[in-house]
Amino acid sequence: MAIRHVRTLGDDILYKKCKPVKDMTPRLAQLIEDMFETMYTNSGVGLAAPQVGILKQIVVIDVDDEDVPDEERNQYVFINPEILESSGSSTAYEGCLSVPGKTGKVTRPDWVKVRFHDENMDEYVMEAEGMLARAICHECDHLSGKLYVDMVEGELKDASELTEEDME
Ligand code: NI
Repeated sequence: MAIRHVRTLGDDILYKKCKPVKDMTPRLAQLIEDMFETMYTNSGVGLAAPQVGILKQIVVIDVDDEDVPDEERNQYVFINPEILESSGSSTAYEGCLSVPGKTGKVTRPDWVKVRFHDENMDEYVMEAEGMLARAICHECDHLSGKLYVDMVEGELKDASELTEEDME
């Protein structure tokens, strides 16, 4: 495994559309492993392939708390994800490894139904809510070249300025 360089705001690649994955290859399997390692190293809860410079429709997500043991973690790989349905709305502070140290309020659906392929290219449809639904929406946006900073209500803040009240 290897930690990959995370592209940050201003890098053109973050604004490009990603191509669907047709077949799983050893190279892409390696990419997925590296994406998890890169995400954990940077204390992120999600990472999309374009953030490490690869324009493929691949996302990894793990919204579990840091103290959850490895064997109980919910590690999701979404390949070619497509949000089929969504409902509800929730507003919360969000961050992104491509926008280090910043945070801003974004309104997203609080429930989604998503179709995707896993790392074996088997197709699934999954429902998700809350933080996981938010992460899926945020990461799917990356695959179409969209960043959360363009959806922020109010100002983008320094993450260190957030108070506990803000997090509620
Ligand atoms: Ni992001």
